[in-house]
Amino acid sequence: ELGKFRHYMQKEIFEQPQALANTLELIAGGGGISPQHFGARAGEVFEGVRRVLVLACGTSYHAGLVARYWIEAIAKLPVTVEIASEYRYRESVPDPDTLVVVISQSGETADTLAALKHAKSLGMARTLAICNVPESAIVRETALRFITRAGPEIGVASTKAFTTQLAAFALLTLALAKINGRLPAADEERHLAALRHLPVAVQKVLELEPEIEKWAQRFAGKEHALFLGRGSHWPIAMEGALKLKEISYIHAEAYAAGELKHGPLALVDKDMPVIAVSPHDQLLEKLKSNLQEVRARGGELYVFADAGSEIPESEGVHILHMPEHYGMLSPVLHVIPLQLLSYHAALVKGTDVDKPRNLAKSVTVE
Ligand code: F6R
Repeated sequence: ELGKFRHYMQKEIFEQPQALANTLELIAGGGGISPQHFGARAGEVFEGVRRVLVLACGTSYHAGLVARYWIEAIAKLPVTVEIASEYRYRESVPDPDTLVVVISQSGETADTLAALKHAKSLGMARTLAICNVPESAIVRETALRFITRAGPEIGVASTKAFTTQLAAFALLTLALAKINGRLPAADEERHLAALRHLPVAVQKVLELEPEIEKWAQRFAGKEHALFLGRGSHWPIAMEGALKLKEISYIHAEAYAAGELKHGPLALVDKDMPVIAVSPHDQLLEKLKSNLQEVRARGGELYVFADAGSEIPESEGVHILHMPEHYGMLSPVLHVIPLQLLSYHAALVKGTDVDKPRNLAKSVTVE
């Protein structure tokens, strides 16, 4: 079943172009953005939604954090993203005009299911599941559903489920924007074109694997790593850190780059590699000054940049240039090299990539 791949994780990373194409099939060809992507009743459920609450765990939670940037910027709805295990036990203030979105690869995560039931018990009936398993417990509990078509994910570390969750959230963002009259036809066309191009764009990033493999060699000997990102790439930094921790057992932390000075900079020295997710967007200049702060303390920098980022390679500064600049979908593209980096670091360390110690694929107990 593994074919030319050594592990399921590697196979699943490379399946992402197809997984995304399948998930986005609804808009292939001439299909436009429609609430119907989320179920027959979606028009009615979305109508009058005034805010969005996303509940999830782990990698799925990170997908929700990216979605917050998209939905607030494009659909202009306030978004809260909460870890399911916190939400379920917290006294919160319910609002029936909230769209509750639960995200789960497996659809069986105990905390996410309980958080959903908790939200419903508080009178929030507008519920949507974004899930990779059609007949799962979570999907049976929601008014609406969007099934990602990543195919079975076997490696414990989630990869293709994550990028297809992001694709689902991109569609949701645009559907909510359309319903709220915030998606002019020209914008819709532009977003649709970018989404249709996504599988090809991901494919091109996957071709950078040999370069990332070289980085992983240098990396694998380290005990700690710091991941930095800004805006919608901060959750991508978090996802990169989670992947590295779980399969290579290297301690990694992610920070919003602006927080560097407020504490973590104290950790930076020559033994602390810093990975920066650095797309060419309006935050690039700010990120560049954070990177200088790291260099000034002797920290080795690994920068994932895209077209137009123009950060020069220099002593202690390694740059991986991705071929395009992806606009809104940039987080989807930037997570790919981070997945590959953890995978190859784990290979060098010889850990059990598909079944990391202490972890289960589906967490059906609290
Ligand atoms: C990390 C990972 C976990 C899951 C989390 C939620 O690689 O796989 O953090 O994302 O356990 O699982 P689902 O999405 O099945 O609810």
